[in-house]
Amino acid sequence: MVSDEEVIQIVQSYPAERRYALAAMQDMQHAFNYIPEKGLHCLAKHLKCGVAQLYSMATFYKALSLKPKGKHIIKICNGTACHIRGSVNLATGLKRELGIDPGETTEDGMFSVEMVNCLGSCALAPVMLVDGTYHNKLKLEDVPGIVERYRLADAEEGEAGND
Ligand code: FES
Repeated sequence: MVSDEEVIQIVQSYPAERRYALAAMQDMQHAFNYIPEKGLHCLAKHLKCGVAQLYSMATFYKALSLKPKGKHIIKICNGTACHIRGSVNLATGLKRELGIDPGETTEDGMFSVEMVNCLGSCALAPVMLVDGTYHNKLKLEDVPGIVERYRLADAEEGEAGND
């Protein structure tokens, strides 16, 4: 749950000028994995602008999200090279593993899947980016192992936290 204090701290770290709207929203995205509604309202008040204006910015920029995203963000490249080499199969594999389609987040809040444009690694297509790490030349059968790796890392992290 995002606290009012956290939101206020981000908003007030910027001068009350509209040109800082995007930067403040990017900070919220980074801190909370999405932009909470109270973040939009607080920022609008600070910048003396309409919430609708910020809302349209937040929906325009793909890097910003108004819905909470998962802990792990899986980006499937659907640029031309990856598409030709079967990026749709990767989406199918993730649907099987996680039960979600691109654009969705698992109910436990652990994974979000997105289809994106060229990730700049076409020679290694098809490519998937998970939390900033590239997984290259993937086949459908590689998908479960990748998801499992992140699940295991989370489980180990949880156990370490319980020590
Ligand atoms: S098309 Fe996928 S990395 Fe370029």
